[in-house]
Amino acid sequence: MTSNQAYDVEKIRADFPILGREVYGKSLVFLDSAASAQKPRQVISAMVEMMENDYANVHRGAHFLSQVATEKFESAREKVAQFINADKDEIIFTRGGTEAMNLVASCFGAAHLQAGDQVVTSVMEHHANIVPWQMLAETKGIEVLFVPVDARGVLDMAVFEGLLGPKVKMVSLAHVSNVLGTVNPVEEIISLAHSKDIPVMLDGCQGITHGKVDVKALDVDFYVFSGHKLYGPSGIGVLYGKKDLMNTLPPHQGGGDMIETVTLEGTTFKESPHRFEAGTPAIVEAVGLGAAIDYVSSVGMDAISVHEKLLLEQAMAKLSALEGIELIGTAPNKVSVLAFNVTGIHPLDVATVLDRQGIAVRVGQHCAEPLIKAMGYEATIRASFGMYNTLEEVDKLVTGVEKAKMMFGA
Ligand SMILES: Cc1ncc(COP(=O)(O)O)c(C=O)c1O
Repeated sequence: MTSNQAYDVEKIRADFPILGREVYGKSLVFLDSAASAQKPRQVISAMVEMMENDYANVHRGAHFLSQVATEKFESAREKVAQFINADKDEIIFTRGGTEAMNLVASCFGAAHLQAGDQVVTSVMEHHANIVPWQMLAETKGIEVLFVPVDARGVLDMAVFEGLLGPKVKMVSLAHVSNVLGTVNPVEEIISLAHSKDIPVMLDGCQGITHGKVDVKALDVDFYVFSGHKLYGPSGIGVLYGKKDLMNTLPPHQGGGDMIETVTLEGTTFKESPHRFEAGTPAIVEAVGLGAAIDYVSSVGMDAISVHEKLLLEQAMAKLSALEGIELIGTAPNKVSVLAFNVTGIHPLDVATVLDRQGIAVRVGQHCAEPLIKAMGYEATIRASFGMYNTLEEVDKLVTGVEKAKMMFGA
């Protein structure tokens, strides 16, 4: 471990069984954590232990195992709450980030939006923060406004402020862009919106993995993230919602566990969070997410962020030193998500050459088609670095790109 490294990355890597495997006879270099991160043994074991020893449905039976399972499930909720400095009953478990944002669009839309109202989002959003609002525009006649980004991938805050007119009833923006790595000025965004009494939802699917998040300090109204990008399992996501606000919203789905009483004449609903968790939840996955939070907390989110910054700086410096590399997203405040293209080579060709070297990157539009087009591309390569990546892996990426350039004569 060199003095400028935040922690012993080899020790971290030893916790992730998959990082020891080979692909095409080469050591795996996994640079696709922004799509979904790998899981440490601690998460895998917690889930196996839950299924082998403690599994039953939650919130239902009075029997022993149901109580054990309920305690573990609710303790995962408590861990999530502490991790982002929320109260436990402000944490709603969903299937993922996408479901959480659909829930807010649909339930907030039902309770608080009328035809002609406006929702402000941006060009840099993941489709999960565009499509639900567009669907609401179809069904309710609301209008969706988009804040543009500049050539570096920075939100145009002057336009944002100018858009906040009397018809705007919601601001819904990414905390961190999944393509550009841009960290948006969320404190300023929230304070500007709140000065006009407009609530704010942050899509934290990328924000949660790269540094500390404190929803109370931010005073954000809704914060959304997924378990699978935070080194936890897929199938579980989180919606943080201020309790008073959540209790103004109707349920998302109807069924078991979200009701107070059901008669043939009608139903009354529990308060949030249970109002929004109809049916059997993702019990094992919630426990896995709790274990992932324990894991990243034991390493420290600040340390993870220092480590990833080192990787990003090296990757940006070494890639931009090569001829014909177009870095897409050069915001001053940026995390370790690096989109780029190589002039004259199709991104899929570069990604295929990298893949044959065992290097996993993402290629395409990254579920952010409007952004890719606004940046002037049809597709890009994206390397994203997680807590377990190394400086040697950054060098392998650079060597892999050089190889692609040689092969395609670019
Ligand atoms: C910024 C952002 N928002 C939303 C999502 C969707 O999250 P999920 O996969 O949990 O539905 C992603 C996942 O790629 C993302 O990066």
